[in-house]
Amino acid sequence: MYLFNLKVLLTKVLFVCLLCLGALGAQAQSALPRLVKTGQSTQLLVDGKPFFVLGGELGNSTASSTIYMQPVWPKLKAMHLNTVIAPVYWELMEPQEGKFDFTLVDDLLRDARKNQMRIVLLWFGTWKNSMSCYAPAWVKTDTKRFPRVESDLGIPEEIMTPFEPRNLEADCKAFAQLMQHLKATDDQHTVITVQVENEIGMLPTARSYDARANAAFKQAVPAALMGYLQREKKNLKPEFAALWQKQGARTKGTWEEVFGRSLATDELFMAWHFATYTNAVAAAGKAAYPLPMYVNAALNLPGVLPGKYPSAGPLPHVMDVWLAGAPAIDILAPDFYNPDFKHWCDLYTRGGNPLFIPEHRFEDGVAAKAYFAFGNYNCLAFSPFAIEGSDTLKGAPIGKAYELLQQIAPLLGKQQPAGQVRGFLLQKDSAARVTTLGDYRFTAKHEYTLGWSLGAKKAEWSPGGGLLIAVAPDEFYLVGTGIVLTAEPLAKGKRAGYVRVEEGHFEGEQWVPGRRLNGDEDHQGRHVRVPGQEYMIQHVKLYTY
Ligand code: DGJ
Repeated sequence: MYLFNLKVLLTKVLFVCLLCLGALGAQAQSALPRLVKTGQSTQLLVDGKPFFVLGGELGNSTASSTIYMQPVWPKLKAMHLNTVIAPVYWELMEPQEGKFDFTLVDDLLRDARKNQMRIVLLWFGTWKNSMSCYAPAWVKTDTKRFPRVESDLGIPEEIMTPFEPRNLEADCKAFAQLMQHLKATDDQHTVITVQVENEIGMLPTARSYDARANAAFKQAVPAALMGYLQREKKNLKPEFAALWQKQGARTKGTWEEVFGRSLATDELFMAWHFATYTNAVAAAGKAAYPLPMYVNAALNLPGVLPGKYPSAGPLPHVMDVWLAGAPAIDILAPDFYNPDFKHWCDLYTRGGNPLFIPEHRFEDGVAAKAYFAFGNYNCLAFSPFAIEGSDTLKGAPIGKAYELLQQIAPLLGKQQPAGQVRGFLLQKDSAARVTTLGDYRFTAKHEYTLGWSLGAKKAEWSPGGGLLIAVAPDEFYLVGTGIVLTAEPLAKGKRAGYVRVEEGHFEGEQWVPGRRLNGDEDHQGRHVRVPGQEYMIQHVKLYTY
């Protein structure tokens, strides 16, 4: 009897222990950085809370030396970055086949932690800006085992072909080792997201003509892509749907039968094979450690033919192919070196693809664009490229913008899912932007449009921008630079007045008011204004009369 009771007791204890272990495991798992669709936005959760990457991507070679990195960290800190985007170089991580060296990764994580920063890792694996320049020497020099793409003239390029399973296998093994290493060493979740490869793209022809590619090109379009086309018929991006429909929206056939004979078809074909290859790499990594993963694209200039720009990467016109071929990839991301920021953001956010900007040319206007991106697109990440660049003046505006965005981030995270956030980007030639929020219609203009503004006569206008958050139908926080906002009530026959406008800052989630701005600064109650070259958070309470 006694023995029986003991056995029951032990079984119960064991059961409770298992439950606890399970719960702990689940907790650790749930604490992993992850993407969650909440209300109207997708959020990146880090330690269970919405996180906005206020980032900077390092120049390509900077993170290849821990010593070189040392004076960089204080610069990044002074710019109020919360995240550094940094490469992991396949050649340095696996200098000999199967022998891995994680010293650089470990150093990077240690130093990021010392500086209270997170990391987005870039996997410079098979491809970096089209090329395979970061493949280890044992891969590069064995072209028989690790073959290359070929142009239509049969000339090989230093681009590993996606059609060779041994190329894929080598990359998958290395990437899985990296993710496994992070799993084993990064219980603090310093690494929050990983980019798989870098700016994948085919050059100098729209498709590869290596023997394997030629054979694949003659085959039928894979069933997985045909299935996607039919399933998503109504949601296909128009430029892609047009190609398909022009050929009669066929449900089977070779690439040229289904999409026609053109460079555009060559690009679709390559996009499919790049996507499925990259998907396999991402899946191998996620099987070891499932962090959010994205791919980035070098944007194409309009009017340039496929093959003349890095083709078939995750570009807007082949987005559908990437979505169909790479379900293990969470986000398709644009790198901005082209004009027309809004145009490309609009294209990339189609179909609910979250906006993640790993690279923007480090130039005048990045601060305003950061405000706009987080406010208008529920953006997850903003990051100028070569952030450590020696021109420290360049860093000042983005640093000021990031300092205020860090303060307002908890409120942004809270109000975003409910659609209570707006963003503005205002250039010299932009018309006024009108939007409704709460009980009001707001009109945003560049601050220099006020004839009496100090900057009005300047030949060059730095872009202005801002982010407006509603916390009540008549209460808002504006953070921005070079912006003037006027409000009118949605209710007919009424006018808007300002109960108060105050500048201030957040300490944690607590608003700490500074100066009251109800006189000249808000033009005696006519508008809310942040002068050009200044960066402020203002708390605004409106009323109607
Ligand atoms: C885009 C690439 O993704 C980066 O790695 C770097 O090469 C920049 N271009 C240089 O402008």
